[in-house]
Amino acid sequence: MELDDISEIMPAASAAAVNGAAKKVFIKTYGCQMNVYDSQRMNDALAADGYAATETIDDADLVLLNTCHIREKAAEKVYSELGRLRQMKAERAEAGREMIVGVTGCVAQAEGREILRRAAAVDLVVGPQTYHRLPDVVRRARGGQKVVETEYSLEDKFEHLPQPRKSEVAKRGVTAFLTVQEGCDKFCTFCVVPYTRGSEVSRSVAQIVAEAERLAEAGVREVTLLGQNVNAWHGEGSDGKEWGLGRLLYRLAEIPGIARLRYTTSHPRDMDDELIAAHRDLRALMPYLHLPVQSGSDRILKAMNRRHTAADYLKLIERIRTARPDIAMSGDFIVGFPGETDADFEATMEIVRATNYASAYTFKYSPRPGTPGADMDGHVDEKVKDARLQRLQALITQQQHAFADSLVGQTISTLIEKPGREPGQIVGRSPWLQPVIVDEKAGEIGDIINVRITKTGTNSLFAETA
Ligand code: SAH
Ligand code: SF4
Ligand code: F3S
Repeated sequence: MELDDISEIMPAASAAAVNGAAKKVFIKTYGCQMNVYDSQRMNDALAADGYAATETIDDADLVLLNTCHIREKAAEKVYSELGRLRQMKAERAEAGREMIVGVTGCVAQAEGREILRRAAAVDLVVGPQTYHRLPDVVRRARGGQKVVETEYSLEDKFEHLPQPRKSEVAKRGVTAFLTVQEGCDKFCTFCVVPYTRGSEVSRSVAQIVAEAERLAEAGVREVTLLGQNVNAWHGEGSDGKEWGLGRLLYRLAEIPGIARLRYTTSHPRDMDDELIAAHRDLRALMPYLHLPVQSGSDRILKAMNRRHTAADYLKLIERIRTARPDIAMSGDFIVGFPGETDADFEATMEIVRATNYASAYTFKYSPRPGTPGADMDGHVDEKVKDARLQRLQALITQQQHAFADSLVGQTISTLIEKPGREPGQIVGRSPWLQPVIVDEKAGEIGDIINVRITKTGTNSLFAETA
């Protein structure tokens, strides 16, 4: 009898345990926070089908690579990993043990069937819009089929995915991600996301509130709302009116147990008045905002199709800082976009100086197949990109250290998250996402305590109870 058939006559929860011991799944996650969240939801969906999650690839009967397509390096990493898995799968076959290999995430969506051609080890390819079908796809793959599911589904996958399990949420800790919005309609000329994640879709208020309540009941204190364009989120509120992200944050701040809220990643064009007002009014909304600008040159911003100028961005930051003076900024930058001259790059250095970031991510432009940027003239020499990246990175590191140093002597709130690396220490998180190291007697995991910063480490802060 084929495994497919057995799954039909056995209850779903034991379908994967047909050979005695429960089956195990190992998911390796690449890319952004949305992939981290998706991997958790895939684990939940597979658990309902009898697959226990494992952190050890050697124990796994099912290995999934949840992939990222944003830059060439990220996508190529997947193929080298698949090469290793091919070897492992061959060794397993000799020992008579099954290993199903799957590719999910943005490379799966972008390359689909091509992955089967390039990597013989792969049994299944599932794009981000169809994760609710994963258990079924795995069953088909175990029956010997090669399965590719990358069609954009008309169904709402979130309606079909099981709710996060409270026991799992509790294991994952006191902070959690919650995807509220997916996809992007902005089509920046460098970016693959509109192609890999499809057009913008917002989850409903009811779904989001129910999930946040469930997280809170499992002990979560800090929720980060996720979306490729999170501040483009909109939906019909409980009052029948159209809500934006700002209004949603007011609603989520009412949930007992949720003490901290964050959201990422936002686009400057979608920072509306209500969202800025939420930063002014809500103590739960952390004073830390990731607001990528990519470049400081108007010419390059135009070529990138960002649809705002450097001055628009700086004006926006001024409005946000007026509403919430202690807000710290974070951002993303691309150096070496096609046509970027020395003067354009200097404009980027200038916007960084003018903004003064608490942290920021810098990337060398990577031409992506199918995006307009890849076909533009004036590709920048790799050596020039390297030199620009180094200068920009040095400036940002300097700002990051200056920000951390400015906290020494101050009393700040810290959410205690986990035991420290050294005995007797415990690690918390500052409002600005820095790890804060304190004596373990300072409080329990999940407590939010006030601590006084005594000194800074490379990427962390040291503190004593205030
Ligand atoms: N939605 C977010 C960003 C998502 S991608 C936004 O609009 O800002 C995360 C970051 O990767 C981007 O902000 C950009 O800085 C970087 N990135 C995207 N495509 C890239 C490419 N082709 N080359 C280099 N960096 C890229
Ligand atoms: Fe990519 Fe631009 Fe959309 Fe962000 S807004 S996901 S950078 S296309
Ligand atoms: Fe990468 Fe897809 Fe996220 S391309 S950055 S995993 S949305």
